Amino acid sequence: IAPAMNQAMWRHPATQRNVSQLANDGWQLIGPAAGDQACGDVGPGRMSEPEVIVDCLAQHFASAAILPAPASAPHVVITAGPTREALDPVRYLSNHSSGKMGYALAAEAAAQGAQVTLISGPVNLPTPHGVERIDVETAAQMHHEALTLAPHAGLFIGCAAVADYRAASAAEHKIKKTDDSDTLTLTLVKNPDIIADVSALPTDQRPFVVGFAAETQDIARYAEDKLTRKGLDMIVANDVSQQGLGFGSDNNAALLLWRSATGTKQREAPPQPKTQLAALIIRHALSLLPSQLLSQRPSQPPSQLPSQSSGELS
Ligand code: C5P
Repeated sequence: IAPAMNQAMWRHPATQRNVSQLANDGWQLIGPAAGDQACGDVGPGRMSEPEVIVDCLAQHFASAAILPAPASAPHVVITAGPTREALDPVRYLSNHSSGKMGYALAAEAAAQGAQVTLISGPVNLPTPHGVERIDVETAAQMHHEALTLAPHAGLFIGCAAVADYRAASAAEHKIKKTDDSDTLTLTLVKNPDIIADVSALPTDQRPFVVGFAAETQDIARYAEDKLTRKGLDMIVANDVSQQGLGFGSDNNAALLLWRSATGTKQREAPPQPKTQLAALIIRHALSLLPSQLLSQRPSQPPSQLPSQSSGELS
């Protein structure tokens, strides 16, 4: 039951009595949330956001069907969205990543019983139910959070579209247009490769590492090259030249490649909603996870993690 009503009606003892009765009878409540109401009141009684309701339902049914025992649920760390690299106080370099794929993966991993931390660049998406979210802007900040969390994780998924370069030095003041030249030269320096650095962690700190590869041609060959070059365990490659798929879209198709004792194996996932593809990727990655990575590794409580932000950027 996802109640939606005026705050005074929700708070009324008769409503509260009936809600308790329903809960005792085994009904589950989603919400209500609190905040501004249509009549102008402020308080509890707002219907939970549709995404929250869907997440709760997905989590409920997933836990009935595929949830591993909580004691053996891994800690999953996912990077998602774009990064922003400042050029001056008002301008930045970024890309069109919507974050939808990474957020769908986080929702799915949580629904499958994992403890999930999402390291997110600036996106306009609600935090999936049951997911801890750390907001970052730059590749350097994402790198710092990823390398802090990855040694305690069982599975690391690098889904963010990280800027490969940043300004050598961001201007302190807004860069002015000048009349004496029609060109402006920016000097860029390379950003750290987050996923390659996670892959290079010592064995006892290294999670199972899954990367993404956006390609426009020869997908399998380029993806396998990336799998080897970055030292990944699995890679999800997609063809970004296909209309209606990938960046910003709700649908995606992919080729999954992973290492096995007998060489690289692959599996094709046809075009489908990102939420469905996320379920397939999470299930596949978890099925490849060595047993010692399946259970939680000792980690710092979230309140002790450095530079954590709880606010959402939207
Ligand atoms: O090299 P390319 O950017 O195509 O690799 C894509 C994969 O590498 C993705 O998994 C992406 O999240 C990750 N990546 C990263 N840090 C970077 C660049 C890419 O983690 N600086």
